[in-house]
Amino acid sequence: MRPAAVITGASAGIGAELARVFAASGHDLVLVARREQRLRELAEEIAASGRPKPQVVAIDLARRDAGNELGRALAAGGCEPQYIVNNAGFGLIGHAAELDRAPQLEIVDLNARTLLDLSLAFVDSLARHRGGILNVASVAGVMPGPGSAVYYASKAFALSFSEALHQELKPLGVRVTCLCPGPVPTEFQRRAGIGESAPNRLIDVPAAKVAKAGYRGLMRGKRVVVPGLLPKLLFALVPRIVPKNVLLEQLEARQAARRAGLQPVSPLEP
Ligand SMILES: NC(=O)c1ccc[n+]([C@@H]2O[C@H](COP(=O)([O-])OP(=O)(O)OC[C@H]3O[C@@H](n4cnc5c(N)ncnc54)[C@H](OP(=O)(O)O)[C@@H]3O)[C@@H](O)[C@H]2O)c1
Repeated sequence: MRPAAVITGASAGIGAELARVFAASGHDLVLVARREQRLRELAEEIAASGRPKPQVVAIDLARRDAGNELGRALAAGGCEPQYIVNNAGFGLIGHAAELDRAPQLEIVDLNARTLLDLSLAFVDSLARHRGGILNVASVAGVMPGPGSAVYYASKAFALSFSEALHQELKPLGVRVTCLCPGPVPTEFQRRAGIGESAPNRLIDVPAAKVAKAGYRGLMRGKRVVVPGLLPKLLFALVPRIVPKNVLLEQLEARQAARRAGLQPVSPLEP
């Protein structure tokens, strides 16, 4: 069995950039998402750069049996995970009681349930290959998010679980790093229902930079990585110094503005 880095959500955004960084650093890859054509194009691009051609696995990771299905696909392709990158995820903007319940449950299935399942499913092979897990949460994981409540809660789960797992898997030599970006311009915003707005140079961090920081953090065995100065400050200070009632009001106003495609009304905008 070939050791490989398995990257979910590799068909776009941060996941595609993570795939480029892992490939450039010499890892064999398995690319996972639903859009097979996108994954195949990225696999061709990586092969054209002189690296081994990644295996492509097109599956819906929000499905209950996704972890087992991925395990079978890896075995069939002769691979076993050295690194698992749980990056696939999405959010929705709107009040929880007004949005449909089904897609909100899908957020939990993908961002929390599958992240948990894939983090635990391959621990033996991660330990054998002295590898690790990179879980993509968000700055949103350190605060409640009215106007996007389920997404923020799913990222709180991802962050809390990953930090605990970092400690638990240490004796096995398995690194666990939680990558917590602030806003990153990708397809995420459109899928979430965020209106078009001009980029915010103050806080936006490009996906390529986020991916490099995540990879570096994982290789160094860091517990949490927050790319960018302003996101770092938000992550560290907001939960400590902003009173909860102010935070809730500010974030709700911000999400309403984002939905309408308006510029930030507050700096609290992960
Ligand atoms: N962009 C931001 O501002 C931001 C900030 C903080 C954290 N994050 C987190 O970063 C991660 C990557 O987001 P991104 O910004 O790169 O978003 P993106 O450009 O929308 O990419 C999302 C990726 O997830 C995959 N995905 C979505 N649903 C899936 C499903 N059911 N099964 C399999 N794959 C699925 C998508 O592939 P398919 O559609 O082909 O399946 C795509 O490859 C997410 O966990 C997100 O929460 C993003």
